[in-house]
Amino acid sequence: MNTWIEQLEQVQTEAETALAGAQNTPATEQWHADYLGRKGKLTALLRGLGQLSPSERPLVGRQANQVKELLEGALAARQAAIAAEELQRSLAAEGIDVTLPGRRPLLGKLHPTHQAMREMVDILKQMGFQVFDSPEVESDEYNFGLLNFPPDHPAREMQDTFFTTTPNLILRTHTSPGQIHAMRRYAPEPIRVILPGKCFRNEDVTARSEMMFYQIEGLAVGRKITFSDLKGTLLNFANQMYGEGRQIRFRKSYFPFTEPSVEVDVDCILCGGAGCRLCKQTGWLEILGAGMVHPVVLQNGGYDPALFSGFAFGMGIERQAMLKRGIDDIRLFYSNDTRFLARV
Ligand code: PHE
Repeated sequence: MNTWIEQLEQVQTEAETALAGAQNTPATEQWHADYLGRKGKLTALLRGLGQLSPSERPLVGRQANQVKELLEGALAARQAAIAAEELQRSLAAEGIDVTLPGRRPLLGKLHPTHQAMREMVDILKQMGFQVFDSPEVESDEYNFGLLNFPPDHPAREMQDTFFTTTPNLILRTHTSPGQIHAMRRYAPEPIRVILPGKCFRNEDVTARSEMMFYQIEGLAVGRKITFSDLKGTLLNFANQMYGEGRQIRFRKSYFPFTEPSVEVDVDCILCGGAGCRLCKQTGWLEILGAGMVHPVVLQNGGYDPALFSGFAFGMGIERQAMLKRGIDDIRLFYSNDTRFLARV
């Protein structure tokens, strides 16, 4: 009988030590299996009680039941303690530090092209130009024919123009067809309009050219409009856009819809004309194309070229934004890189 009591005490001590070492719920479950479960050590002892004599059995049996209850109670207490610890730990880990600064929500902003477009439109509006909307999809006639492009002009060729499945309907390659729309809408009244919008050219995309880009077209038609008016307007624009005191320079050029035609440069906004990487050592930056409206175009717009004259200019919006903000790759504008969009 004594050996039974001893064995019970031994299992109890061993179980109590093991339980104290159980650090988490899975460990207490394992402990339960080791001592109290179907194949547990205490269960095995209890099963053996049958071998005792009837006189010994009550005493040992009582002792055994006491040990069992004690261990069950100890397990419950240990499990409660572990649950409390686990709760404490997760509260500490997930705790809110109310002294941390808040997270700022990301704010949207105008696209760099639109920022530049608004700036340019504001400057021109203040000189008396009104915004006139014109379509991005045009007929071949408006994009080329009415603008005095000869039928075999290279700009009409496949590689430059995006065609649609509708015959003669194309994506405009410049904003100049808007000149015809504006003239036909207002002739024979004098007009001063600007036409900002998207243009499309079927060209290789490089750091300097995109297949979709924006232009602003300007057009003034009246009875006494001269080449000096063009120059004054563009000088005023350059001074407001690129800084007071800027010089501009006209170089002779060719466009079918203007005569004479010029390309217009501004003195380099980086080096002021001394020569640098931006202006490729020339001291000048090309900003736009312009000229006096060709008599044929005035006529196509509904004005009598004997009585009316006009000037027109057209400039790339991304180009102006690139010069002004020091952006060296036009592809950045439409690649949706938020690092670029947030910076500019
Ligand atoms: N349409 C011309 C271009 O896209 C620019 C231009 C506009 C030139 C108006 C002269 C007058 O290059």
